[in-house]
Amino acid sequence: MKIYWFGHACFLIENRKKIIIDPFLTGNPLASLKPSEVDVDAVLVTHGHGDHLGDAVEIAKNNDCPVVVIHELSRILSEKGVEAVGMNIGGTAVVADVKITMVKAFHSADYEDERGIISAGDPAGFVVEMSGKRVYHCGDTDVFLDMKLIRELYSPDVMLVPIGGWYTMGIREAVKAVELVRPKIAVPMHYNTFPVIEINPEEFREQVEENVDGVRVVILEPGEYLEI
Ligand code: NI
Ligand code: MN
Repeated sequence: MKIYWFGHACFLIENRKKIIIDPFLTGNPLASLKPSEVDVDAVLVTHGHGDHLGDAVEIAKNNDCPVVVIHELSRILSEKGVEAVGMNIGGTAVVADVKITMVKAFHSADYEDERGIISAGDPAGFVVEMSGKRVYHCGDTDVFLDMKLIRELYSPDVMLVPIGGWYTMGIREAVKAVELVRPKIAVPMHYNTFPVIEINPEEFREQVEENVDGVRVVILEPGEYLEI
């Protein structure tokens, strides 16, 4: 399995099938990929904020593939002519042969367009299982104690964890989150996209190595991938 990072919270996971999570490419200064270049079987979006929903509609239309989101956001996206698969927290759906479990995130999650701010359900994370390997994308969140349940229920191999602070947890909280989930590999995300979330990911690596046994931190450059 290959896990590509395109900056911010955008990951493309490739195995037999390809999925993209939180495809914020247009307007993302770190993204090396154009929406028109994305070739996937499904799009997953953690919540309605623009830096996560991003180019989801265009990518879904180009690839004639579904967008997996929380129920309320699926209603909004359906109006825009995409096949939106609405699910909810704690549920598991199989889409494009990929087992997708929606899990909690502790954040806000409105959607904004020309009509203004619209309520779009709760924010979420995803545990994605492909060929027996499980990847936990935290979405935007603070640390919460129920991450312990995510470990007990799904034992993620890889955790994609926001560290940039300001809009999500910062390094201090993210280290605690890694301690609760104890994946084999933790990959930091949601940092250095904008000035307010500028941070040195090496500090995250050092603190995880100092405080949590058995977790390897892999820092990706935008466009790079991790193979597991
Ligand atoms: Ni957000
Ligand atoms: Mn965000």
